[in-house]
Amino acid sequence: MAFLQRKKILIGVTGGIAAYKVASLIRLLIKQGAEVKVIMTTSALAFITPLTLSTLSKNKVLVDFFDQKSGEWTNHVELGLWADLFLIAPLSANTLSKLAQGTSDNLLVATYLSARCGVMVAPAMDLDMYKHPSVRKNLETLRLHGVTVLDAGTGELASGLHGPGRMIEPEEIREKILAFFDTKKDLVGEVFLITAGPTQEAIDPVRYISNHSSGKMGIAVAEEAARRGAKVYLVLGPSSVIVDVPAVTVIPVVSAQEMYEEAKKIHPDATCVVFSAAVADYGPAEVSAEKVKKSDEHLTLVLKKNVDIALTLGKAKNTDQIHVGFALETENEAENAGKKLRKKNFDFVVLNSLKDEGAGFKTDTNKVTYFFSDDTRLVTDLVPKKQIAVQIIDLIKKIRDKQEKE
Ligand code: CTP
Repeated sequence: MAFLQRKKILIGVTGGIAAYKVASLIRLLIKQGAEVKVIMTTSALAFITPLTLSTLSKNKVLVDFFDQKSGEWTNHVELGLWADLFLIAPLSANTLSKLAQGTSDNLLVATYLSARCGVMVAPAMDLDMYKHPSVRKNLETLRLHGVTVLDAGTGELASGLHGPGRMIEPEEIREKILAFFDTKKDLVGEVFLITAGPTQEAIDPVRYISNHSSGKMGIAVAEEAARRGAKVYLVLGPSSVIVDVPAVTVIPVVSAQEMYEEAKKIHPDATCVVFSAAVADYGPAEVSAEKVKKSDEHLTLVLKKNVDIALTLGKAKNTDQIHVGFALETENEAENAGKKLRKKNFDFVVLNSLKDEGAGFKTDTNKVTYFFSDDTRLVTDLVPKKQIAVQIIDLIKKIRDKQEKE
């Protein structure tokens, strides 16, 4: 069976003795039906010839921004968009550092920075380099950016030293690639309603009250649910983040009231609801039709409470619906999260703590604690928001499977 039929895989090769292994990797991928293109750094050219890799991949190998012979420009953005997966193997310490820092001084790094697809890297270096704190830190940075790191294997290294640093074997890389494309469609039949982003509460035609929410967490949950086969409605407050999974229906809203009206329409058909929006709790009691002019030293704005979407829809929740809430606390975290769980009829609450560096608003990473209705808890490490999204979906699925067994 050709499990990688029509899958487009871009392979970035950097300078290292393991570059020779890429030749057999390309053959393995082509055998599975994949389309393969190769980018090499100039240091990689010393280890394996572009002729070998172009012959095996059946595509021209790219090294420079410009083709020296034809003077043609290689569009790194197009390359990044072409690929379904970008694999960098072997990854040298030098290129790793450039990826972590965003140092775009060659075609490979420029393509990495513009790629929208999944990225995997297979580091290969000598024992002490691989163990060095700088290298560990750079690998950690890549992980936090959502890159899958295929940890180096242990064995005899080119230097004669023995230990970790050897690029994993082509067969193992092929297995990782197969697993990457083998997304389980375990949510077919589920209908997700997700609220995300901030809300804006108008003061007058030019001003509003809002908060720092980016919408990233809710969007990541929506994308993961859609990838796994669910029908997804995302009611999204003003956010600059692009939702790039076509299966997600985005319903853009501005205020808390609008978010509520739209969510209420979808709620009866939803089987799972994730309330990730940072809804403004209060909005101006009256919206001025004209711009408020500057006059006295002090200006008093009278605010009124907005509708609590999760609370209201929580009251209408039926036994088959799963509701998930978020909580952001700065004090008495556990107690407040527990209170919210019961009051709003959630199946579980995802507690964000602003105290953890790298967690919360506008970051790509998050560290959360899950509070369940049976009083159990689960604490995560600081991981990419996309990974938290996978955990949330897995937890929802677990609840659903349990319900179905009962
Ligand atoms: N929520 C909502 N509608 C609101 C306020 C909150 O749907 N008007 C939802 C959020 O999306 C989140 C949960 O309720 O899932 C908890 O939100 P949070 O702001 O932490 O709690 P509040 O109930 O607003 O309480 P407080 O701000 O006092 O902590």
